[in-house]
Amino acid sequence: MIKSSHCALCVLAFLLGGASTVKADSLTLKITKKYLNFPVSHQIDRKAMSIKVDGKTERMFDIRLAIGKPDYWVFCDMSEFQNKNVTIEYPTTDGRLNQLYQDNEIAGKDSLFKEQNRPQFHFSSRRGWNNDPNGLLYYEGEYHLFYQHNPYEREWGNMHWGHAVSRDLIHWEELPVALYPDEHGTMFSGSVVVDYNNTAGFNKENSPALVAIYTADNAEKQIQCIAYSHDKGRTWKKYAKNPVIDSKAKWNSKDTRDPKVFWHKPINKWVMVLNERDGHSIYNSDNLKDWTFESHITGFWECPELFELAVNGNPDNTRWVMYGASGSYMVGSFDGKKFTPETGKHYFLTGSSYAAQTFTNIPQADGRRIQIGWGRIQAKDMPFNMLMLLPVELSLHSTKNGIRMYSKPVKEVDQLEGQVLQKHNLTIEEANNSLMPFANEPCMRIKTKFRLSHATSAGLKLFGQSLVDYDMNFNLVNGVFYSPDDCTSMEIEADIIIDKTSVEVFIDGGAYSYSFERKADPNNTSGFQFFGNNIEVLDLRICKMNSIWNTNL
Ligand code: FRU
Repeated sequence: MIKSSHCALCVLAFLLGGASTVKADSLTLKITKKYLNFPVSHQIDRKAMSIKVDGKTERMFDIRLAIGKPDYWVFCDMSEFQNKNVTIEYPTTDGRLNQLYQDNEIAGKDSLFKEQNRPQFHFSSRRGWNNDPNGLLYYEGEYHLFYQHNPYEREWGNMHWGHAVSRDLIHWEELPVALYPDEHGTMFSGSVVVDYNNTAGFNKENSPALVAIYTADNAEKQIQCIAYSHDKGRTWKKYAKNPVIDSKAKWNSKDTRDPKVFWHKPINKWVMVLNERDGHSIYNSDNLKDWTFESHITGFWECPELFELAVNGNPDNTRWVMYGASGSYMVGSFDGKKFTPETGKHYFLTGSSYAAQTFTNIPQADGRRIQIGWGRIQAKDMPFNMLMLLPVELSLHSTKNGIRMYSKPVKEVDQLEGQVLQKHNLTIEEANNSLMPFANEPCMRIKTKFRLSHATSAGLKLFGQSLVDYDMNFNLVNGVFYSPDDCTSMEIEADIIIDKTSVEVFIDGGAYSYSFERKADPNNTSGFQFFGNNIEVLDLRICKMNSIWNTNL
């Protein structure tokens, strides 16, 4: 994954008030339609495009503007500039700007969500790149998924906050970009809170503001900024006195980013967990604007998380969990100012997941700690790239080794299941026969429990790719150490969720999970194949999964 080259040119241009130092083609047009469509070619180097309205630079981003046949088209939502004259500048002189056009539809709309490598029940953006989930929040019936987004290319760059909403955590509607790069930099990861008590003073009448706390990244440093919204996250206003934290000098490092903020009732303050250089720092605030550094714990990198969870579902016995972008976590206690680890680090997931964040403001009656991770899974040759993993519910369990975190798909995933076929006590041959008709299905869920007769490798493959490969001799599941709580058990359970491009597997009720790119061996014709020395398939539950997109595939 290449994630480099922050849009330094863009920031410079913003600082210069949009003045371009390079000789540029320019195009002036009156905006009468919703979108501007741009042709992109990966044969072309990135160059900075600016869009000026009334002489002010409103948009500035790097784009590989095609000349001749594009690889694909991307778009910029121009709703807020209707009936205005905009001037678009790009540092070429060959007239290629004339290829872009206005329309009320995005170019390629007819094939949206039907593309060859489009995940069918995982969120992916219509166009461009996505990485980390940001600002996961439930508010007034909607789950909000903001995310790191490059709207103008299928690779990382130009970080914006994309935005999608869902009423059920499963069906997502992509909304216009929420946060655009500005004079402070591009929009890196962060979180969103509801300021019920109007601590920041942004509220309007009786309606609380949503406040986004995010990192602005520029060539020199990463600073923490805030913005607020009065319309359920659709549009945002940046705080005039940004940044609210600038800690580069203190850490002698540019790496200060990804604020995760929550309200901590016991001390009646906002808490921010911020990754700074070599670990996670805790800050406190009364108003989301003035922050006090409280403590720091080393050994974490990027995308901090910190939350409280009941052990074995008992609300009187809780622990705090802290993790960074990889998801490997510590379990401990937290007094509002300092996290004190008791055990760790441990992993509960491996594979494609990165930068997973959990939702804030989930209603108390629900009470779940729901997480979404970035699935680092390529969408080959598509006008979009990467996906969000399925939302999972996190929980703490006491095990023989101590308290451990589990994750399992949220129950809302079940609504996508088609007709279910359920069988028990099968030989390998019987199980394989049951699975045979499903080999070429794009989307499937298979729950199985099997019993080993030897402590040697056994499991299930799809066209030669291991979905589960459990080896009790080496104690590995798909190459990663795993030993169940009852380490003598010869049985293992797997919930395997297969989309067009991805596979997610939850072992033994979520004690361990992993995800990876679905990659059939093109020379393999065997479909689903259980394998292993004389294993017994105790349970086999098979169903097709429906698409979340409103398309007839
Ligand atoms: C993690 C990360 C974050 C950063 C963002 C930039 O994947 O590097 O630390 O805010 O991505 O896109």
